[in-house]
Amino acid sequence: MTIALIDRYRSRLPVSDGTPVISLGEGSTPLLPAPRLSERLGVELWLKWEASNPTGSYKDRGMTVAVSRAAEDGAEAVICASTGNTAASAAAYAARAGLPAVVLTPAGAVAGPKVAQARMLGAKVLEVRGDFDHALAAAQELAGRGTHVLVNSINPNRRAGQKTAVFEIVEELGAAPDAFVIPYGGGGNTSAYATGISELGLSTPIFSVEAKHRPTTMASAIRIGDPVHAASVRDSGATVVTVSDDEIVAAWLELASLEGLFCEPSSAAGLAAIRRGDVPGERLAVTITGHGLKDSASADRYAPALAEVDADPDAIAAAARS
Ligand code: F0G
Repeated sequence: MTIALIDRYRSRLPVSDGTPVISLGEGSTPLLPAPRLSERLGVELWLKWEASNPTGSYKDRGMTVAVSRAAEDGAEAVICASTGNTAASAAAYAARAGLPAVVLTPAGAVAGPKVAQARMLGAKVLEVRGDFDHALAAAQELAGRGTHVLVNSINPNRRAGQKTAVFEIVEELGAAPDAFVIPYGGGGNTSAYATGISELGLSTPIFSVEAKHRPTTMASAIRIGDPVHAASVRDSGATVVTVSDDEIVAAWLELASLEGLFCEPSSAAGLAAIRRGDVPGERLAVTITGHGLKDSASADRYAPALAEVDADPDAIAAAARS
């Protein structure tokens, strides 16, 4: 049977024997070598494929802890603001716990499949007129009234769960990599990785990669103008790297066509920084945070064009060559 993340790392997480384990089989994700990209870039690249978490993003690592603790504490409901992945994850774990979930999204700014996912999973999805920062402020305010438990990464239980990606990478490599490279949206994951590294007694550098034009980037998962964890990212000592949308798209297409990993655009930010030569070191662990099917509109826009052919072998062979 799949081991729940809480059971795998119980001694390092804020849970007790009395905590109900709300799990969908998260964590224990593949750490994949990337032979073609490694050769091209002259490094030893490892890809932590977090899209294989149950809802298709790394958020499930934190959500299992946050929702399990919320259930233990007798929560009546959970709430989050989200660019889409936290929404889907909160909805799934709340459903699993039998708790209602309220999800606030910036109106019109979230990839369609993520909204569909959260709705299917039974969350009350409310589109907030405003951007992610407005939605998060409203969620925090409502949670402050005591009716809903906030399950954004401001919730320390979320970050505690997310640090386990570092444990898995170091366990599987048998040593620390030269650097961890991750996307930077609100910064909760950077802060979580920093904690994981320090709990292992390591001082491995983190490269945290943000979009150059945060409020408008095509990588909608990290379209966050004002990162709520900016201070802790600074204090963590992580190096913040800024990449353009063109660089994100180029890295994203390469991950798919050279390594067979179809992620969402934000997840390619780390590779974009490495391709630019902004990450020193030989052995690099890059976290691929979310699945490409979550943003099918971007794939439709940037993937090689479709062609239509007659059901004729000669026509198909000719079209396949062109
Ligand atoms: N990658 C993906 C796929 C994300 O969904 C997010 C954040 C990040 C990276 C950035 O992580 O915010 O901890 O720095 N998504 C949040 C959400 C904002 O609502 O799903 P971060």
